Amino acid sequence: MQLTKEQQEILGGSQGEVMAKVYKTLVMYGDAFGADKLVPITSKYNHLVTSFGLKMIGPVYELMNKLIEAGALSTQKFSMDPRPIDSKVPANFLQNLIFKKFMYSKQDFYEGQLEQLGLMDKDAFTCACYMDEVGNKPARGDILSWAESSAVVYANSVLGARCNRNSGIIDIMGSVAGVVPNFGLLTDEGRRADWIVKIETTKKPEAQLLGSAIGMKVMDAVPYIYGLDKWLGEELDDAACTYLKDFGAATASNGAVGLYHVDGLTPEAKDFGTSLINEGAEVYVIDDAELERVKASYPVMWKNPDAKPKLCFMGCPHMSLEQLKSWTDRVEAALAEAGNSKVQIPTVFTAAPAVLREFEKTDYAERLKRTGVITSYICPLMYMNNPLSAKMPVITSSNKLRTYTTAKYYTDDEILAAISGKGGNK
Ligand code: F3S
Repeated sequence: MQLTKEQQEILGGSQGEVMAKVYKTLVMYGDAFGADKLVPITSKYNHLVTSFGLKMIGPVYELMNKLIEAGALSTQKFSMDPRPIDSKVPANFLQNLIFKKFMYSKQDFYEGQLEQLGLMDKDAFTCACYMDEVGNKPARGDILSWAESSAVVYANSVLGARCNRNSGIIDIMGSVAGVVPNFGLLTDEGRRADWIVKIETTKKPEAQLLGSAIGMKVMDAVPYIYGLDKWLGEELDDAACTYLKDFGAATASNGAVGLYHVDGLTPEAKDFGTSLINEGAEVYVIDDAELERVKASYPVMWKNPDAKPKLCFMGCPHMSLEQLKSWTDRVEAALAEAGNSKVQIPTVFTAAPAVLREFEKTDYAERLKRTGVITSYICPLMYMNNPLSAKMPVITSSNKLRTYTTAKYYTDDEILAAISGKGGNK
């Protein structure tokens, strides 16, 4: 890797031993992936993935202390992934004990460290940091040091920023150094497509199911997708961005996609079109039957596959304001049709604290409350990641949550039927 004179000096210790180690980490990371140089991060804010004060990650607290003591702070303020606990989310006595005393007992301490390192503000905890209400929305072409897979794929694909699928901790190293290794999705070459995906469904595909199908097929390659503009239009309006947020998160978690292009819609596809596709790209055709096949292939992890769901999580990744409003309408309509006034399964909609604040200012908030749906800033995965929660029959429309936990995937319509009591509980 070619380093500038200044970078070589920092590596040699000109800014202290701790900063030299931060640079060494980034150089080794870059070397492993064939990077040619370190390039400056250009976004106004950064975003870090390790948001949870898990008791067992002592080395992380030690690392943070070393950085803080050496004054090796983040070069930019940053947002964080969501908090792991929220007392608004239903949990029994034992679960609460596990969350507070055993799993996330270091949360307050860790948040104190994050504030010292450069946290944007106390409420900047969400995986959807790019929402207008949150304010960490990179510009096209910005170089980032993010690791949250759902945010990386959104930033690359919908915003046209440039970010690799980094890991937790590596994101902090980039944030402190203010530079990242130049390889993969940071380069023009790495942003070219090796897969052509043709959408030939008879109705608008479920975002999280389509993303899952594509992720499992192309894995970490870049797909160029035809036929989605038919369903989403040619403008990145709120509805299209919300769809792509959920779609992208599924491609990134069911596979390892870091960037996709949607013909006629996403910024690079609009500017460069099919010239982004590499010669010899493979083709994947998705029709109704293929989506059915993919959905039927999901393993059911519940002990009793026919159990009545005990909890429903929506909002992984966190919901947009547009989504909270449209789901309020949908829940009300489904309840009216089922002849019920409140949801029949405890249901939690998750969103960024700043988005929830805006939502509270609308009359939708009161209407949603009347249906019994709870809103929260939690990360559902952090709730599910323990043996007690894992035993619960939880349903979700998130294919990321399904992949990482025992939660069962339901399409949006199935969720509505289940929580309203319209379709019984399948
Ligand atoms: Fe966000 Fe947690 Fe899901 S970080 S994408 S809500 S797993």
